[in-house]
Amino acid sequence: MRTHYCGELASGDIDQEVEVTGWVHRRRDHGGVIFLDIRDRTGIVQVVFDPDTEDSFATADRVRNEFVLRARGRVRARPEGTINPAMATGEIEVLGKTLTILNAAATPPFQLDEYSEAGEDVRLKYRFLDLRRPEMQARLQLRARAVSAVRRFLEDEGYWDIETPTLTKTTPEGARDYLVPSRTHPGQFFALPQSPQIFKQLLMMSGMDKYYQVARCYRDEDLRADRQPEFTQIDIEASFVDEQDVMDLGERMIRGIFRDLIDVELGDFPVLTHAESMRRFGTDAPDLRNPLEFVDVDDIVADVDFKVFSGPAKDPAGRVVALKAPGSVDQLSRRQLDELVGFVGRYGAKGLAYIKINDRAAGRDGMQSPVLKFLADAEVEAILERTAASTGDIVFFGADKANVVNDSMGALRDELARLLDALEGDWAPCWIVEFPMFEQGREALVPEHHPFTQPSCTPEELRADPRGASARAYDFVLNGTEVGGGSIRIHDPVMQETVFDVLNIGQEGQVKFGFLVDALKLGCPPHGGIAIGFDRLVMFLTGTDAIRDVIAFPKTQSASCLMTNAPSAVDEHQLRELHIRTR
Ligand code: AMO
Ligand code: AMP
Repeated sequence: MRTHYCGELASGDIDQEVEVTGWVHRRRDHGGVIFLDIRDRTGIVQVVFDPDTEDSFATADRVRNEFVLRARGRVRARPEGTINPAMATGEIEVLGKTLTILNAAATPPFQLDEYSEAGEDVRLKYRFLDLRRPEMQARLQLRARAVSAVRRFLEDEGYWDIETPTLTKTTPEGARDYLVPSRTHPGQFFALPQSPQIFKQLLMMSGMDKYYQVARCYRDEDLRADRQPEFTQIDIEASFVDEQDVMDLGERMIRGIFRDLIDVELGDFPVLTHAESMRRFGTDAPDLRNPLEFVDVDDIVADVDFKVFSGPAKDPAGRVVALKAPGSVDQLSRRQLDELVGFVGRYGAKGLAYIKINDRAAGRDGMQSPVLKFLADAEVEAILERTAASTGDIVFFGADKANVVNDSMGALRDELARLLDALEGDWAPCWIVEFPMFEQGREALVPEHHPFTQPSCTPEELRADPRGASARAYDFVLNGTEVGGGSIRIHDPVMQETVFDVLNIGQEGQVKFGFLVDALKLGCPPHGGIAIGFDRLVMFLTGTDAIRDVIAFPKTQSASCLMTNAPSAVDEHQLRELHIRTR
């Protein structure tokens, strides 16, 4: 239907007869001459109609925004003074000869270049329109190029793309399952996979050696800016590998994608243990562009006359940290300081003590602080020394149970970097390793990753001290976001049963995952892998902070699709067939 895409026409095409197709981006009537900006996925070209070509002029007069057209004409240089350097095709235009309306369009619910005035709900309801915006198309194009680069890379490395079921059994990744009722088995349900975890391990037991899949995963959990109920993983598994092999592969893949797609050469991928990351940053997904770090001061304040500090300092489950914000005396107003107290409150902190150092040489007289009165000179001096604080700095304090301090002061660390514009560099990847095997759930221990992760100890040691056990797991973190995670897996049935026992799901584990334990008894190679959250990766590549921007048809915060109105009620007949009654 066309000879050229709109955005590809250039001065080299001058004097050629061309035919383009696309949408009316804008129509302007300049006293006797009509200009149509025609848009396709490559860009926009201006087509001019004058009254000499009577028929097409009359047609051009009738079209409106978002009509779909085919236009034929001759490319010519734009007259002096009308060249548009802001437009890729701004040096030329097409002098239109024939014009066909392929499809008319009613007035759209929002104009594409005024999309930001339309509410997000309207844009999601008319997602197909919103996707016509060049910015959205560019993101989806980059996503397509990224998945193609991933496939090329993994196939060159000898990985086979193998599909695994999506009507399956529960796969424990810590979220709720989406369930699908079975018609043929009354009262029974499939679960949609939270990940292909179990199947990819079984494929290793089948001798496939190296597997990958661009896998859709389903998790019914609270949504955030970087979470969707269905999302895509680059899922990888290999046999006869250790942590280093998997991390090397992941690192080479990520480096290659950044280099090929956005021309970014990523620097080092430092490896931090979980314990170190928690100690220095209060989180297992630290933003290493942020130079601020926690300094533990429990020992200094253990005996002060201020219970807020001494209590947590003496409590084995407590923690007292100082966080120095260099040069912030001049940068943070009194009001901002007050707001920071409210800010940490959202993360459970009961207060936010600080010492403002107006003049380090003046001792106490040079400082302002609501807690100075509770501290002796020696203690103040020890804190300032350990934090290397000097004139112009503010030192903040968090004291509470360790998890509260980590959450609130970790968030404060990010917030301070934002307020002080302190981030260094654009990209800071890292690996976090040596996670604990388990964390304390509301009732029992729960796995920090999933229950198939190999502990770094023997089954006997695990039984004796499950809380102290560390896991052969690794997370890939970029700029403070967990982008990927994986582990070396259990390949010994005794160890697998021990983990189920420690999790107190011995019986249940047998019922749910007995087939896996059986497989472990029939010749299972050591194996491990990783899954990269592909949507999150594409968010970074396209520079957006909303996961909805990189998914063609995303869901809302409450997990619904405003365009199709899913989920929705189904008719009684369908329910009866599925043996379901709603209540
Ligand atoms: P995990 O649960 O850490 O590991 O998931 C891997 C990565 O998937 C991404 N991710 C999500 N992205 C968007 N929306 C969500 N709701 C969502 N949930 C997770 C994250 C995360 O790092 N089977 C293991 C992997 C393995 O052990 O090999 C797994 O699924 O970027
Ligand atoms: P109070 O004696 O409770 O008024 O607290 C004195 C100072 O300590 C105030 O600046 C509080 O914001 C701060 N503070 C209170 N609780 C904590 C806490 N858990 N961690 C850090 N600072 C706190």
